[in-house]
Amino acid sequence: MRSIFRGLGLGGLLLASTALCAQPGATLKSGEQVYRETCMACHGPGLANAPRFGDKKVWAKLIAEGQPVLTAHGWVGVRAMPPKGGRSDLSLEEFARAVAYMARAGGGNWQDPDAPLLERIRSEERKRIEQLQKKAAKG
Ligand code: HEC
Repeated sequence: MRSIFRGLGLGGLLLASTALCAQPGATLKSGEQVYRETCMACHGPGLANAPRFGDKKVWAKLIAEGQPVLTAHGWVGVRAMPPKGGRSDLSLEEFARAVAYMARAGGGNWQDPDAPLLERIRSEERKRIEQLQKKAAKG
């Protein structure tokens, strides 16, 4: 019995733990990937008044709203911008990376979100949904 555990040894443990740690990161798409696959169709040409990729004038105003607010509003959806960019299989983290990627192309220095920033985006998402529900209730 003992020898089986000894046989697995440190190498086995290390392999198991890197496999566990590497998995979530490896399955997440980069901001550029998400942008190309999903956002570019509208944000490339500026379809239906979508803020155009690389248009620094338009993006300066959006960037001024701050990363948590702007990311949350895009995620929830606003006017002709569909929730999640119309890709319900995207995670919030992947969507946020795409927003950061577009913001960088628009002159900002937003980075892929870390855990605390994701939490702030989620809190803005809740606020936004409440706002929209109140609006809907008023008619
Ligand atoms: C079907 C077209 C379409 C797709 C696909 C799309 N967008 Fe948009 N997006 C828009 C339009 C239109 C607006 C402008 C909405 C407005 O202000 O009226 C917009 C606005 C935004 C905004 C600004 C929100 C605000 O509060 O002003 C962000 C951020 C955004 N999109 C991110 C994304 C990301 C990230 C993706 C890809 C995952 C994406 N969009 C995919 C059409 C699209």
